[in-house]
Amino acid sequence: MADYDYDVLVIGSGPGGYVAAIRAAQLGLKTACAESRETLGGTCLNVGCIPSKAMLHASEYFDAAANGTMAEMGIDVTPKLNLDKMHAQRRDAVKGLTGGIEFLFKKNKIDWKKGHATFQDAHTVKVGDETVTAKNVIIATGSSVTPLPGVDVDNDAQILVDSTGALELAKVPEKMVVIGGGVIGLELGSVWNRLGADVTVVEYLDQLLPGMDGDVRKEAAKIFKKQGMTLKMSTKVTGVSIKGKTATLTLEPAAGGDSETMEADCVLVSIGRRPNTDGLGLDAIGLELNKRGQIETDHDFRTAVDGVWAIGDVIPGPMLAHKAEDEGIACAENIAGQTGIVNHDVIPGVVYTLPEFAGVGLTQEESVEKAGGDKTKIKVGKFPMMANSRAKTNHEPDGFVKIIADAETDRVLGVWAIASVAGTMIAEAGIAMEFGATSEDIAYTCHAHPTHSEAIKEAAMGVQGKPIHI
Ligand code: FAD
Ligand code: NAI
Repeated sequence: MADYDYDVLVIGSGPGGYVAAIRAAQLGLKTACAESRETLGGTCLNVGCIPSKAMLHASEYFDAAANGTMAEMGIDVTPKLNLDKMHAQRRDAVKGLTGGIEFLFKKNKIDWKKGHATFQDAHTVKVGDETVTAKNVIIATGSSVTPLPGVDVDNDAQILVDSTGALELAKVPEKMVVIGGGVIGLELGSVWNRLGADVTVVEYLDQLLPGMDGDVRKEAAKIFKKQGMTLKMSTKVTGVSIKGKTATLTLEPAAGGDSETMEADCVLVSIGRRPNTDGLGLDAIGLELNKRGQIETDHDFRTAVDGVWAIGDVIPGPMLAHKAEDEGIACAENIAGQTGIVNHDVIPGVVYTLPEFAGVGLTQEESVEKAGGDKTKIKVGKFPMMANSRAKTNHEPDGFVKIIADAETDRVLGVWAIASVAGTMIAEAGIAMEFGATSEDIAYTCHAHPTHSEAIKEAAMGVQGKPIHI
């Protein structure tokens, strides 16, 4: 240790990096964290999970008042939007949480090195003007927006924006086009749709939400259309030009064919994210990237370079905050000589719209594929939220729970849920799968009544062939 300033230097303070730093410090390792942003917390806290949920939550209330949901429950109100205040509460949430990380760093005696970090060698990193040495360096540099070739985002102008710009719009667009029907497009598209924008989602594939179960993707299209969004599927955007305050998009069928144009006063580019490795000096340590620009690691989060580790969005796997966090904890534990493990087969994914779309484990399509294409090797139980007493009482009829189990062993392979609180419900499925539960285990576990979670129990009973309420 005497040779190094720190036992651990973490590069990046997102959910991967800050959590790794805290766990390393908790384990008695002298730790520093380099961050080039003005505040700690990375994409998630500053411009990602937290501000998007702040806008989703607030716009959900507005929509409930505007679309008649509250009136159905005997509350007659005409909402008036105060967008400045909605933005202010979003900024407050971000400020509180990023400040909270700063507090946790102080509490755990973690030094925040402010500035961009660049490797000089595997144990020496330049952060701004300072040179820091560490026995172990964790790369947790995260990801940023994938640009659409030939389309230049300008968040300040508020016409052609990425997710960061779409969180900050000073007025509700009249006509908004969202390029990409993935998680960001649907969450932020929902925010502005609820606040009054006419939203069109242009998606390259023939379904929304790639990676989710096929039934969930089909239902998503129905639900978002019902909420007033226009979906233009199997279509790619080939260009966007801006004249004055109007953007003109050129669209083509994904399979090729005649192009058409569409006008909007706001365009959101949300076609995915890519790992951040520019300017990190990976050449100096001889660390190569894979074809997708990611850093490969082994199961312990070691890279090919001794003493250099990597976690979060910069490595393969879903780009999710909780995946980054768990990798951060495991990586720090491995550095400390413990056995840190992440089960990448059981990482939940949630889209925080209303209803929420959530899943963990395999999709039905993946389950069949894993069974060599033999559909009889899996069993599926499905239960509609319409038949769940709590969802029905709360005027939340959309959605279902679907459980996929191995036909022979009954072990749960995947759980998918569309429900107002699907993101919370899915945690139960994750725990069940971690413990190797069968669908029968879930079906015979007593669930409180009346809760949305009873739909999980009923779907499990469905796998057994005997649900009660349908
Ligand atoms: P990041 O959070 O990206 O943090 C990396 C940090 O490293 C950044 O602060 C960056 O400034 C810093 N950095 C990079 N390079 C250097 C360098 N060379 N020197 C110093 N610092 C550097 N995920 C969810 O699970 N749930 C959600 O609800 C959710 N919502 C999202 C909403 C939006 C709009 C977006 C964009 C993303 C959302 N995500 C969500 C994804 C989530 O934000 C990421 O998966 C998560 O932040 C990844 O964490 P990370 O630690 O790997 O990297
Ligand atoms: P995404 O990968 O979820 O969706 C991108 C979509 O754009 C895909 O459906 C893709 O087919 C489509 N697309 C690609 N090129 C296109 C083109 N030229 N024209 C039309 N459509 C095109 O990516 P997104 O939404 O940008 O989110 C990035 C990441 O951020 C996700 O991987 C997700 O993990 C993370 N995230 C997670 C959230 C959550 O957990 N709730 C919320 C927001 C982001």
